[in-house]
Parts: sequence; C-alpha cells; structure tokens
Amino acid sequence: MNHTELITAAENFAKEQLGQDTTGHDWFHTNRVRNTAALIAGMEGANVVICTIAALLHDVADEKLNPSKEAGLLKVQTWLAAHLPDEAANEQIIEIIETMSFSGGGGAPMSTLEGQAVQDADRLDALGAIGITRTMVFSGAKGRPVYDPEIAPRDESLKEEYRNYSKGTAVNHFYEKLLKLKDLMNTSYGKQLAEERHQFMLIFLEQFYKEWNQGAE
Ligand code: ADP
Ligand code: NI
Repeated sequence: MNHTELITAAENFAKEQLGQDTTGHDWFHTNRVRNTAALIAGMEGANVVICTIAALLHDVADEKLNPSKEAGLLKVQTWLAAHLPDEAANEQIIEIIETMSFSGGGGAPMSTLEGQAVQDADRLDALGAIGITRTMVFSGAKGRPVYDPEIAPRDESLKEEYRNYSKGTAVNHFYEKLLKLKDLMNTSYGKQLAEERHQFMLIFLEQFYKEWNQGAE
C-alpha cells in the first residue's frame, strides 16, 4: 500500500467509526484536525504522513466511542497492524494516540514532533469560532445552560472561588479550559495559530457580556 492508499484507507476507517458520533468527535472534527496537523507538520518539518494517519485515527480510540480506553486503543492497533507494515511508524502512531487520549489536557508531554503537531491541531479545534461552536453544541447536548451571571466568573481571578458551583455553563468552560490552551501549545506555528483564535474568543466574550447586559445597567 502506498501513502495515498494508506491515507484513503485511514479516512474510510475513521468515517465509518465516527460517523454516528454526536459528542464533538465527529468526522468533520477529525478532518479539520488532520488538515491542521498536516499544515503544522509542513511548517515544523515533521513527518506529514505520520501526522495525517495519527490525526485521522486520534478519536477512533476515544473512550466515549468505546467500552473502555483499552478497547479503543486495541481497535486502532488492530487496524494499523493490518494496514501499515512499518513497525516503527506503527508504534509511533499508537504512542501519539495513546498519549493524547490518556493524558487529555494536562498530562504527559508529547515525546515526538509529530505528536506535538497532532496535539496542537486537536487543541486548535477547541479554539476560535469552531471552538465556540463546539462548546455551545456540547453544552446544549448535555442540557447545560449557556451562561448564568450568578455563577459564572467574568474575572479569571475569581475562578477558584466559583469553582465548585460555576462548573457546567458553556461560558465557564472558556475559563476552565479554552482560554488556557494557547499557553499549552507545543509548536511555534501552533502557538501562532492559537493566538488568533484566542483573541477571537476574547472578542466573543466581551461582545457576549455587552449584549447580555445591554440596557440592564
Ligand atoms: P477533545 O477533542 O480534546 O477530546 P473533549 O472531548 O473534552 O475534547 O471535548 C470536545 C468538545 O466539547 C470541545 O470543543 C470542548 O471544548 C467541548 N467541551 C468539553 N467539555 C465541555 C464542557 N464541560 N462544557 C462545554 N463544552 C465542553
Ligand atoms: Ni479530537
């Protein structure tokens, strides 16, 4: 199998596995992560094929789509063993997916440049206009409120104080996670892309509060 055939096969596998997902890990998320990962890989000198395959498969192993993390990982391992004879590449891809899905936001650092590019791409998809949309959709799907002025801190310094009861609004998720992601980016090109998306979220929040409070003050 050449690279193009391998990538097409991985695309088909991901589409088939993620097609029905409504938890924010649908095929379009995977496809965006794959494109952004390849873009970052190109800029940073990482192996584009490894990044593309890892990005395409990164959510197939997700806990939410499988009986357990181990079962999800095994599914990816089985697929790779059948499609990619290069053992070193195979192991590297598994390691990327494993580290990404097991450590989530703040765990072990990615050990390879390829892993760093794919993790950056996944994080970027939680930022900017796409990130705002995914957050609102996720909250709606969970039946959570968009915002509650009584419980959602506008000021980052109030976060600890409100931690116990501000959990759960969509707007609070920005303070809880999204606004912290730009400082967790691995690659310099990833950082650059995150900066623009971060600024867009700040503008969104400012406008959100302005509209929310208009005429009320
Ligand atoms: P990842 O793609 O890194 O695995 P998650 O599974 O945590 O991310 O989340 C998928 C999407 O849902 C992301 O865009 C994320 O911002 C959003 N999301 C996750 N947790 C929450 C939450 N508590 N409130 C609102 N949105 C959330
Ligand atoms: Ni993802």
